[in-house]
Amino acid sequence: QTIDLISVPFDLGASRQGARSAPHMISSMLARKLNAQGLLFTEQAIACPESLTTQIHDLKLKYLDEVVAVNEGLASVAANSVRNGHFPLVLGGDHSIAIGSIAGIASHRPNLGVIWFDAHADLNTNVTTPSGNIHGMSLAASLGHGDRRLTEIGGLVGKIKPENVVIIGARDLDPGEKSFIRDQGIKCYTMYDIDRKGMMTVIQEAIRIVTKGTDGVHLSFDLDSLDPSEAPGISTPVRGGVTYREAHLAVELLSEAGIVTSADIVELNPRMDKNNKTVTLAVELICSLFGSRIL
Ligand code: ARG
Ligand code: MN
Ligand code: MN
Ligand code: MN
Repeated sequence: QTIDLISVPFDLGASRQGARSAPHMISSMLARKLNAQGLLFTEQAIACPESLTTQIHDLKLKYLDEVVAVNEGLASVAANSVRNGHFPLVLGGDHSIAIGSIAGIASHRPNLGVIWFDAHADLNTNVTTPSGNIHGMSLAASLGHGDRRLTEIGGLVGKIKPENVVIIGARDLDPGEKSFIRDQGIKCYTMYDIDRKGMMTVIQEAIRIVTKGTDGVHLSFDLDSLDPSEAPGISTPVRGGVTYREAHLAVELLSEAGIVTSADIVELNPRMDKNNKTVTLAVELICSLFGSRIL
């Protein structure tokens, strides 16, 4: 199966800039590895505005116009990829780009399962957000909650259903996000659950949930799910995260199960990275997802 690498050099959804240079860094390292693995891929990029020419209009929805424009473009490219029978691999960019990627993919997979790897839940809305940063709202927007200009990106409101979503790695949830998770009955494996059950059990349970009655599984992988000591190159670090080995195991188990039909890899911030540690990790995780093994 052909992989469509879709670069989205965009970081106006985040509190800190820098993620815009991530797609270039990942794809240049990744292209060699995918070739070595004998995998076919194409490369595309979404045109993204830069912040110098833009202004914040609404402090509860920072850079809304830019987020909407980028995600509309991404939604149509991601939809095309699925229509062609390809695997869309979206290289962010901050996590606001999951809105467009999920919208486009869900237009062909109306019962999409979603695995959201993240220290955060990204379940804020313009009402509950403590920061106004839209990367903290992308899962809520995909579920149909928040400002209409976000929820209507790439199609009708409510691209995914709460019962088809699993969050893994959460350890920094805002008050509004905790009520959202409880009210909507979203399965959220926090670091407590990973410590209690182990990553293997968590992934096995997650697979059961996201494959039940669904027509595809999207893996939205925020690199800040990892512990900042192992993945320093991110914009919103939270200590106490997933280890290097747990992250690899998770992706290897998902790869073995053969259930993932699309993915985002987001929040790499090369400006914060140390010796390319995090970009290398991101590339390794992607290779594992596509079948690379130690032996
Ligand atoms: N919950 C915080 C907020 O809404 C942080 C969100 C961080 N999100 C991310 N994709 N890194 O501002
Ligand atoms: Mn996130
Ligand atoms: Mn995060
Ligand atoms: Mn926080």
